[in-house]
This record gives sequence, C-alpha cells and structure tokens, in this order.
Amino acid sequence: MRMIDIIEKKRDGKSLTKEEIEFFVNGYTHGEVPDYQASSLAMAIFFQDMNDEERAALTMSMVNSGEKIDLSDINGIKVDKHSTGGVGDTTTLVLAPLVAAVGVPVAKMSGRGLGHTGGTIDKLESVKGFNVEISEKDFIKLVNDNQVAVIGQSGNLTPADKKLYALRDVTGTVNSIPLIASSIMSKKIAAGADAIVLDVKTGSGAFMKTLDDAEALAHAMVRIGNNVGRNTMAIISDMSQPLGNAIGNALELKEAIATLKGIGPKDLTELVLTLGSQMVVLAEQATSLDEARQMLIDAIKTGKALNKFKTFLSNQGGDDSIVDSPEKLPSAKYQVEFKAKKDGYITEIIANEIGVASMILGAGRQTKEDVIDLGVGIVLNKKVGEHVEKGENILTIHTNTKEIDDILYKLDNSITIESKGEAPTLIHKIITE
Ligand code: URA
Ligand code: CA
Repeated sequence: MRMIDIIEKKRDGKSLTKEEIEFFVNGYTHGEVPDYQASSLAMAIFFQDMNDEERAALTMSMVNSGEKIDLSDINGIKVDKHSTGGVGDTTTLVLAPLVAAVGVPVAKMSGRGLGHTGGTIDKLESVKGFNVEISEKDFIKLVNDNQVAVIGQSGNLTPADKKLYALRDVTGTVNSIPLIASSIMSKKIAAGADAIVLDVKTGSGAFMKTLDDAEALAHAMVRIGNNVGRNTMAIISDMSQPLGNAIGNALELKEAIATLKGIGPKDLTELVLTLGSQMVVLAEQATSLDEARQMLIDAIKTGKALNKFKTFLSNQGGDDSIVDSPEKLPSAKYQVEFKAKKDGYITEIIANEIGVASMILGAGRQTKEDVIDLGVGIVLNKKVGEHVEKGENILTIHTNTKEIDDILYKLDNSITIESKGEAPTLIHKIITE
C-alpha cells in the first residue's frame, strides 16, 4: 500500500477501506508516514467527508494505536460521560457520586489540561489530601467497593489521536465532523467505557457555536459509538451562558456539594438529572428514564448521594469534613461585587467571556506550566432571564489581586440588560441515533 494512493483516493471523493485507514494510522503513529502526507489526507477528509464505516475504522485504528484501559474486573456496565467542554461545567463532580449512589459503577479517568478553569482533577484537588495518583489495581478495587473512583490520566492512550490532533491544529483541519467525532470517541473507548453519554454543548462558550453544528457532531459520535458496539447517546445542552452559578475550582466544588444536598442551581441540577437518568438506564439499573430520575432525586433527598461523595473523598485521602464545612476549602482574599448599571432583565452573559475572565483571575491554565489558583473565580448571582435593579449585585469576583480593571471592562462588555428577557432553553435535543 502507498500513502499517495490513499490521499488521491480520498481527494477524488472515494471511500477508503478499513485496511487503508489502518495503514495510515499505524504509519503515522510510528513516524513512517510524514506530517505532510498526513496533513494532506486530513485536508482531503475535511473536504470529502467520511462515511459511517470509514469513521468507525478511523476511531478503532486510533484506539488500537496505544494502550487500552481494561475495566473488565469491575462489576457492571461502565458508563462514561463526556462533555465537549464549556464554562463552569460542574456536572462531573455531581454526577459521579450521584449515579454511583444508585449502583452505576463510575471509573473516571480525568486530566488537567488547559481551559477557563482546571479539569475535574484540579477541582477535586481543592480538597486537602485528595490523591488521583493511584495504581490501576487500587482504582478497580475502589470502584468495586464504593462504585466511584477517579484516576489521573496515565499510560499511552490513543497516541495516533494526540499526534493527528496537534497536526490538525496547525493545518486548518480541526473543524471537520469525522475528524472531531473519531478523535473524541477514540479517547472514550480507549479509557474502557462500555457505554457513553455525551453532553454536546452549543453556544458562545462551546466548541460548536451553533445548534446545527452541535447536532451534526452529536449524530456523528452517537453513530460511531453504536457502530463499534458501545451503546451511545447524546444530549445537546446550552452553553450560551455559564452552567450553574460558579466558575472556578474550589467554587465549583462548593457548588457541587450544594447540588448533592439538593440546594444547587436549577440549571445544573436539571442537566445532572437528565444526563444521570440516561447513565442509569444505559447501566441497566433502571428500565425507564422516569424511574431512573426518581432514583436520583431520592438519592439526593435521603443524603445517599452526599454520603457517597464523602466516602469517595476519604477513600482517596481527601478531607471529607469539607462536605459539612465547605468554608474550609481554599478561598480568595477579596470578593468584589459587580453591580447592575440599570434596571431590567439580563439578556446575555456571554459564557466564553466569563470563562476568559476567570482564567485571567487565575482559575485556569493558558499554558501547561501555569499554576492554578484554586480559590479564585466568579459566582453569578443572576442568570439570563432574571430581573435586576440598578445597583443590585449581578456577580461576585473572587480574586487575590485588587488590580482587576481589565476584568471589570470585560464583564461590562459581556453582560447585557434590556427591558425584556427570557431564560435560554437548557436542553435542546436528545439524540439516540
Ligand atoms: N476535542 C477533541 O478531543 N478532538 C477534536 O478533534 C476536537 C475537540
Ligand atoms: Ca458551575
């Protein structure tokens, strides 16, 4: 087989065979296919697309390019949740203990990475002593004993994706549905998921800005999952404004605890119950979504979910007293209120801008070397659709510096008050095929 023939075939709009796709992925992973040929093929895929068989083959070739996590010693159906990323997305912190409390095994592998705030692991590390550097053996035992554990990203998962994603980043080929969908799905499958619930975000704070694009990506990922034997479904949810009220690491952990206590923000609670019900059904712990939702609501009401969270923290060395005394979590030196300049209804809180403001405060990493400030961030007191009076607090900035003029300027430009406004739709679509 020759790489040049594969490139020309795709360039001319023909479908590649599984063998041709494997030849490319293996060759590229091992340095036998040079960057210029890989980028040429990526561009051909960008313009000519891939059919379902090609997408499945590309996904599985990338899965097979490196190590795979073996979760077969964990009892039950392992359902993983993946979000395409947003601002103040606290769902994993709530979902993991919540679905574990009703019997769904949650074996979560998580990373740090770049972004507006840290990743799930950074947020959990606001808890003193909490440790994700555990052995795979301990990880599996913890999930079998307590249904939930989190481990740091380890091993050499999907090296083909790592290399190809970096190449796409500099060759104008990131924004291609078959390439994005196979990239995301390969990582979930290599991490050992039997079934996958996808939360595809849409809006200014999301990777997919429009509903049409989000829907196309969701369909593509669901089809790949189902075609390679992983039960997969997706919901499309709003990311035009931040999710919940808190954006920041310790701040989001506090918000997660409040939500597990049943006193969290309405939108975060609703999204968690929607995603959670799907996970419970996929894990075969309930036969209908209604039954699953009721189980989750009960787990919150009875304190079962909160207790699960405490055990989860202490199992991994964390100080679980923060659940009853969240004021022990890291906090910022100053709290500055951002007030409404006129009466009216909030019509816009641009998620992406609030995210960038949080990152500038120190809540997230711009480069891999940046150190996160766990206590800082932003807490919304009002959301889109709510009424405010002049002088009323819209949000509180949690900061360790008093020099925040650039933040205030940014906030001024990302929050709009008008005479009429309504809350955005939270859950746009549920996609099962
Ligand atoms: N996120 C990924 O993991 N891969 C892509 O290709 C795009 C976004
Ligand atoms: Ca939040």
